[in-house]
Amino acid sequence: MKKISLTGIQATGDLHVGNYFGAIKPALELAKEYDARYFIADYHSLNTMKDPKQLNASIRKVAAGWLAAGLDPEKVIFYRQSSIPEVFELTTMIMAFTSKGLMNRAHAYKAAVQDNTGRGDDPDAGINMGLFTYPVLMAADIILFDSDVVPVGKDQVQHIEMAQDIAQAVNANYNAQILKVPQAAIQESVAVVPGLDGRKMSKSYNNTIPLFAPEKSLRKTIMRIVTNSQSVEEPKDPDASQIFLLYKLFADTSEQAAFADRFRAGGMGWGDAKEELFRVINRTLTPMRERFEAIMADIPALDAILAKGAEKARPIAAATVKRFRKAAGID
Ligand code: TRP
Repeated sequence: MKKISLTGIQATGDLHVGNYFGAIKPALELAKEYDARYFIADYHSLNTMKDPKQLNASIRKVAAGWLAAGLDPEKVIFYRQSSIPEVFELTTMIMAFTSKGLMNRAHAYKAAVQDNTGRGDDPDAGINMGLFTYPVLMAADIILFDSDVVPVGKDQVQHIEMAQDIAQAVNANYNAQILKVPQAAIQESVAVVPGLDGRKMSKSYNNTIPLFAPEKSLRKTIMRIVTNSQSVEEPKDPDASQIFLLYKLFADTSEQAAFADRFRAGGMGWGDAKEELFRVINRTLTPMRERFEAIMADIPALDAILAKGAEKARPIAAATVKRFRKAAGID
């Protein structure tokens, strides 16, 4: 039997090239080796997104984005967290095994408290219970599906450790393996994708290349890449330029070698370099964009895919809750 991997996806809205190479592509590769499960963490997103239109659109866009990027809903399980009531039942059950002190130590909560006190505000200003108990809901997401591994960035490792603590507390109390203890698969080798300004590509830096922007606007975005004042004639160092670093993600090795030669030889201006970068990015993104647009043009069909995924997920979820209820004396 294959091991189980689980990937949780925040409904953040517009996906960008950094999301694709940093998270989506490596997560999709897990399906080769694992019994892979993917879900949209829409109740997690409710903590921060209170505008219904925005949340509704984000859920669809992110789901369509993963499908367009190659997630095959026939081969994996793909669902919305909000379609699985057992997530919330398990959340309540594991609350009884989660010390408040553990939540006090969560990085995101601590950072929010620190921001508040730094500003002279009440320590808990603007902090809702959804943020405070975020790690419990996430632990339920993971534990419910008997996950062996959870691929995460370094920022999420603490959450996996908390899920381990919680599962172990339950197992220790009943002196039995009621819940599987998950492991983090830390994605070290994934590319750090540079943004337009050379810093890490991130929505918060406003330096992203959107994955599904129309061709014209994609071209405009690439032309906004920040460069230095070197003249056309000057030889240039490919590895010092985010144009070349981005190019490597989209071009084959012989294209990469040829492009690096053009940098070093001199005679290539930044405008020309950006045109060549646009060519390879657009080549990769065009079929993805077309798939994305087709999926977004038929939301009922998209919702049906997610509903089918939830149908596959629920019996697994129900079995975990049943096992736990029985052990707990609530059956
Ligand atoms: N916290 C994760 C993030 O911000 C999203 C998430 C929610 C998640 N539940 C999860 C990830 C369960 C993995 C497993 O990216």
